[in-house]
Amino acid sequence: MTRRKLVSGNWKMNGSLGALSELDAIAEAAEAHAGVDVAVAVPATLIAPAVARVATLSIGAQDVHAADKGAHTGCISAAMAKEAGARFSIVGHSERRADQGETDADVKAKAETLHARAMQAIVCVGETLDQREAGEAEAVVTAQIAASLPEGATGAWCAIAYEPVWAIGTGRTPTAGDVAAMHGAIRAKLRAMIGAEAEKVRILYGGSVTPDNARELLHVADVDGALVGGASLTAAKFVPIIAAAD
Ligand code: PGA
Repeated sequence: MTRRKLVSGNWKMNGSLGALSELDAIAEAAEAHAGVDVAVAVPATLIAPAVARVATLSIGAQDVHAADKGAHTGCISAAMAKEAGARFSIVGHSERRADQGETDADVKAKAETLHARAMQAIVCVGETLDQREAGEAEAVVTAQIAASLPEGATGAWCAIAYEPVWAIGTGRTPTAGDVAAMHGAIRAKLRAMIGAEAEKVRILYGGSVTPDNARELLHVADVDGALVGGASLTAAKFVPIIAAAD
């Protein structure tokens, strides 16, 4: 089973209208590497102008509320993100799980809402350093998947991003062997949950992916792409990561 690689940027709370010029070269790279799916999750305020600027690139949100509308000050719904032009959203990023106290059940509800809106979801999971050092990493991650992944999830609309919390923004990455072990464990968990469809679900690695380590990480077994934070903010760093996936 060959899965198309997906390389998604995550700008987090960074960027501005001026920074959208970075997307021009990223969109060009996406066209040049047609075998790779390329996406960028921008701040909500930049979704519409990003889509207006680079129509060919898949632009997404970094979070959506599980409800379609209502009294949820400061939140945006999947429908709102879609109207602005988002094709997908990240859900359950560890920064949201930590900062906003999002639970697995919240993450699952958000992913379900995205599917209901014919959008794609990147569902994030990952262990903390304490959990890894205690030998609990696989148990933690597979439990997150069990509780965060909607029933009936398919590879057409759902991807998983394995992002060890201790690797995000730190410059530290797991070894290729540790990544292979975790992605294999995630694939096995997916098989147990959704059967043969598990072969179609892309499992991205995220956490300090750079132009220097992308080629190694992206060619580990069961790594079907990358979720890239800091190195997605500039075309100079993101384009080589796209190329490494090809
Ligand atoms: P990073 O972030 O690439 O800056 O480590 C990855 C992420 O949080 O998605």
